[in-house]
Amino acid sequence: MATRLTRILLLYDSRGGLTEQLADAIAEGVTGAGCECLRRRIDDATVPDLLAADGIILGSPNWSGITGRLKEWFDYSGDLWETRELAGKVGAAFTAGYSRSGGIEATLLQLIHLLLAHGMVIVGLPWTEAMRESGSYYGATAHGRVTDADREQARALGPGWRRSRRVWRLAAEESS
Ligand SMILES: Cc1cc2nc3c(=O)[nH]c(=O)nc-3n(C[C@H](O)[C@H](O)[C@H](O)COP(=O)(O)O)c2cc1C
Repeated sequence: MATRLTRILLLYDSRGGLTEQLADAIAEGVTGAGCECLRRRIDDATVPDLLAADGIILGSPNWSGITGRLKEWFDYSGDLWETRELAGKVGAAFTAGYSRSGGIEATLLQLIHLLLAHGMVIVGLPWTEAMRESGSYYGATAHGRVTDADREQARALGPGWRRSRRVWRLAAEESS
């Protein structure tokens, strides 16, 4: 029987292109982990894109939090938080801003909050030496420009995804 690839929706806003550069590296990690990467800027995204994905990696510029555009898109994406159609999918977050101390983790937590509100299972980044330079337990980051360390952390979200999904699957099988 033919099995399809795990499909990851890489969904993000980016007004100046920095968050989009981080998305490039995340896409490399996702496809490198053997997953299909469906990439959408928020202006082009549709609700069926969300439903078709096994996991969603959500990104926003750090605009003292997520952008209004991204929040508005989710606000008007229907009643998915009530129907629980995204529950159990895996989620992760990324953001880019000017400053490493300019609220970057608060913005990652806002992104994660949106995913948790849909009952999703969240993947972060574990400690590695790269985290001395870049990234957060809450997701991939960049500030000012996208460095090699930022790309390394962003690519790590893809493989981390598969490991987490396996844990979730096994847990479901164990409890059924
Ligand atoms: C309205 C607004 C608010 C911003 N707030 C912050 C902030 O709180 N912290 C920060 O580090 N950068 C902040 N920035 C800078 C952006 O994060 C920066 O321009 C970043 O490159 C945006 O990502 P993008 O290039 O993908 O659009 C802000 C920019 C704007 C326009």
